[in-house]
Amino acid sequence: MNIAIIGSGTMGSGIAQVAATANCQVKLYDTKKEALEKAANSLDKILNRLIEKGRIDEAEKKRIQENISYVENLQDLHDADLTIEAIVENLEIKQKVFCELEGIQRKDAIIASNTSSLSIASIAACLERPERCLGIHFFNPAPLMPLVEVIPAVQTSVEVFNQVFEIITSWKKVAVKAKDTPGFIVNRVARPFYGEALRIYEEGFEGLPEGEEGFATIDWAMKSIGKFRMGPFELMDFIGNDVNYTVTETVFTAFYYDPRYKPSFTQKRHAEAGYLGRKSGRGYYNYAEGAQKTQPIQDEALGNKIFNRILVMLINEAADTLFLNIATAKDIDLAMTKGVNYPKGLLQWANEKGIDWCVEEMDQLYNTYREDRYRCSPLLRKMKESGDRFLVG
Ligand code: NAI
Repeated sequence: MNIAIIGSGTMGSGIAQVAATANCQVKLYDTKKEALEKAANSLDKILNRLIEKGRIDEAEKKRIQENISYVENLQDLHDADLTIEAIVENLEIKQKVFCELEGIQRKDAIIASNTSSLSIASIAACLERPERCLGIHFFNPAPLMPLVEVIPAVQTSVEVFNQVFEIITSWKKVAVKAKDTPGFIVNRVARPFYGEALRIYEEGFEGLPEGEEGFATIDWAMKSIGKFRMGPFELMDFIGNDVNYTVTETVFTAFYYDPRYKPSFTQKRHAEAGYLGRKSGRGYYNYAEGAQKTQPIQDEALGNKIFNRILVMLINEAADTLFLNIATAKDIDLAMTKGVNYPKGLLQWANEKGIDWCVEEMDQLYNTYREDRYRCSPLLRKMKESGDRFLVG
């Protein structure tokens, strides 16, 4: 199968590696020659590391590398069966590339976007045959993260969706179907992990101190009690406060300013100050050489309160995502475990904590704050009344 990847940056180069490993013939295209060179060099390093770890041998490395050609001319993508675009997140630029591509490729060639925040319908709208356009959303780093969200637009044909779902599965990825709504599954359901952590911090919840000790305590609660691999502040520092803030703001705007997704001033100020996280040497934490990491307040009772509040907000978001038919219960849980390494699916977690507990916690938050942010999902309330559980198995 001939695959074209447009944009050889972080995501495009990773997706090219995935497709080439699955034995597809890949053409990786970028307008910048340096970006193509960088992609080729970085793939060489990644494959050498895989050899060192004993995951692949020299022959396999050669095979993967020979499956990828680096091209500087869009015309070279004429014979692609499937094109995945991973260029700058800008609707006009994406549309322009898609229109040009339509003039070059076969009428039935499939054209997909890896966009995180634009609507697939708006990208597809520029095509004469939008029924062969859809979203294929990988997670960073693409070769390591198993999840891929496959997103049909209102224009996408069922055949095209099914074909792509099969291709992605044959690349040994976990494909889930998501509706064309802001944030799809993962970037929507994960919002409270950051947003509620920031809110708890800003409130000085239960006497939480300002600064690193406060961040560290929230991170400690999520890791030590919740078993998340990283705490919210560590993770925001890892992603970059500029990037993470922009995603939050985009989701907030796209949801017509639903207060549930409201961005945080704390994060905005950190981004404005250039405290972007690891990449700038300073974020919520200081990453300078020799900097001492502040210790958290390791108080079990406080930790439990913090963890339960963030968890129930995540569960509520997952439940609402199901309520609004964005994805199935099984796919929502798969998305969070395979796309962002959550220790457990959120709906599974809701079953274990008890639906009654979820509703009571949400109602308690709502009664305290009287903010729409804390409204309980109607699905949880309905399930409490009927005694149902989420079907995640
Ligand atoms: P990046 O900045 O690392 O790479 C973008 C590449 O596209 C650059 O090499 C640039 O030279 C090239 N490019 C720009 N305009 C082009 C054009 N008109 N034709 C051909 N090449 C062009 O960006 P990144 O992070 O790889 O993101 C790409 C897309 O993937 C965006 O839509 C982003 O929203 C999405 N995405 C990003 C994720 C991430 O964690 N970085 C995760 C999932 C999706």
